[in-house]
Amino acid sequence: MSYQVIARKYRPQVFDDVVGQRLVTDTLKNAIQTDRVAHGYIFSGARGVGKTSTARILAKSLNCVQGPTLTPCGECPSCVEIAAGNSVDVLEIDAASNRGIDEIRELRETVRYLPARDRYKVFIIDEVHMLTTEAFNALLKTLEEPPPRSLFILATTEPHKLPATVLSRCQHFAFRLLDYGEIFARLEQVCRAESVEADEGSLAAVTLAAEGSLRDALSLLDQVMAACGTKLEETKVRQMLGVVPLELLRAVTEAIHAADAPRVLEMVDRLSSEGYELTHFAGEYVRFVRNLMVARSCGAESPLLQVPGDERQALAELAQLFGEEDLTRFFQILLRTEGELRYSLEPRFHLEMGLLKLVHARRLVPLESLLSEFRGLPQTGKPGSGAPRPPAPSNAPAASPARKPEAEPPRRLAPAPPEEPSATAAPVSAAPPADDRLASIKAALFEQKKLLSSCLDHLSGWRFENGEVRFLFAKDASFFADLLRSREQLDTLRSVCGQVLGQAVKICVTLDEGNGAPVAAGPKARDRAERDPAVEAFRKRFDCIMADVKDLSQE
Ligand SMILES: Nc1ncnc2c1ncn2[C@@H]1O[C@H](COP(=O)(O)OP(=O)(O)O)[C@@H](O)[C@H]1O
Ligand SMILES: [Mg+2]
Ligand SMILES: [Zn+2]
Repeated sequence: MSYQVIARKYRPQVFDDVVGQRLVTDTLKNAIQTDRVAHGYIFSGARGVGKTSTARILAKSLNCVQGPTLTPCGECPSCVEIAAGNSVDVLEIDAASNRGIDEIRELRETVRYLPARDRYKVFIIDEVHMLTTEAFNALLKTLEEPPPRSLFILATTEPHKLPATVLSRCQHFAFRLLDYGEIFARLEQVCRAESVEADEGSLAAVTLAAEGSLRDALSLLDQVMAACGTKLEETKVRQMLGVVPLELLRAVTEAIHAADAPRVLEMVDRLSSEGYELTHFAGEYVRFVRNLMVARSCGAESPLLQVPGDERQALAELAQLFGEEDLTRFFQILLRTEGELRYSLEPRFHLEMGLLKLVHARRLVPLESLLSEFRGLPQTGKPGSGAPRPPAPSNAPAASPARKPEAEPPRRLAPAPPEEPSATAAPVSAAPPADDRLASIKAALFEQKKLLSSCLDHLSGWRFENGEVRFLFAKDASFFADLLRSREQLDTLRSVCGQVLGQAVKICVTLDEGNGAPVAAGPKARDRAERDPAVEAFRKRFDCIMADVKDLSQE
């Protein structure tokens, strides 16, 4: 007998053989039992998760000589022909290659005849989203008035591309991707049936490479069996599949923990010289960090972990080196890096940059802990009573007993917490630096060009950052913005601002877009904000100025 590919050889033949789609199969079984099979079904889901198999099982269940039944015999002519895909009454149409109106017309023609032999005429249309609009319309007519004893099963990987009219005529089943355990177990089963010896590591590598598709898993198994024979060897399997060795992923993670940037760069160099595809590595590392995150939050035994049993403990221990927040941040950075890598002409640079970001991300103080400094402050009243608390250490949430003590405390990118504000500070008389500077600018301008100075009375806000002075005007004050924008006026502004601020500056005049952007608040609100101890603490902590005040009480 000729060689039959594993994926086809192990196609499920009854509902209970279908792995991981219980929701679908139970509903279909119930429909058969209660004689309530619909006229149209949509089976959506990724490739290789059981859509076609389930469609054929449904067809067999209805048309088996012993049927309708939940367990088609698999031996009668109907069952045999359906399984082989050549039944006269069960037609499989690939919409990807028969997209047009002619095929659907032909189909509508066929639909009108009763089944030649079986109980039902079944049409399985694969990749149905590929049909042309015309063809869809023709199909819709049939779905609207389905001939008796006809059944349409529309399979698609992209259900969102189906017209609403078609969706609404059919019962929709979404097939899910299979999880690690489901694929692994099926591979084990198939290996046993094929008398192939396979260790856990080999099957784990195949499982991970399949990314949720059982067909892909079985096709990959076919390939590694062809290379390894009846005994699968982990190293060979990993090599074939281009799976990055776990040690390497672990080593990169440890280098990041040690904040050892040179070592991280060396590793990228090694990956590159050993011929790994860096995009592929990034994908693997995203998955690895995702698992660390799960291990850190849910523990080593979590079913959400996509790793073989014997690696769980090591992974969980590694995860304990980091805070949940670190890992979440790593994950975000890596996802972005992976995306960039795909389109990059210099994937190596992007990978290096991404990994270095991880090294540095560990040293950032979490925003929450900075903000918590201000939360304790009273809303109004006595300033100085709420001294800012020092921030919590960067990545040690209370529940990380296994965390190793660090030789050197994590350095902070944000400045150190300020001295406790003295209780005698007089906040009202101490003019805020922001307005001080604007007032000085206005005053200096008034000396030179009164018109310019009065334009600034209509500002909705201003900022001074990174050597740039930005004047903001509300839309209805655009007239003043336009006045400031001439070359001559800008020159004057630049020189005056430069003098007042004590450095060369760029000038930028922009309109406040209004949508969510700060609205100029009345002097009262500004006054209140100036006195607010939380604002004061913020200003000191971040060495910033209060550029705009938005009066929320007026919304
Ligand atoms: N849920 C599943 N249970 C068991 N085997 C499956 C499943 N999904 C896919 N397979 C395997 O993959 C092959 C292709 O599956 P198929 O039903 O054609 O997938 P789809 O139509 O979703 O692309 C099957 O022959 C079978 O070996
Ligand atoms: Mg299919
Ligand atoms: Zn049968």
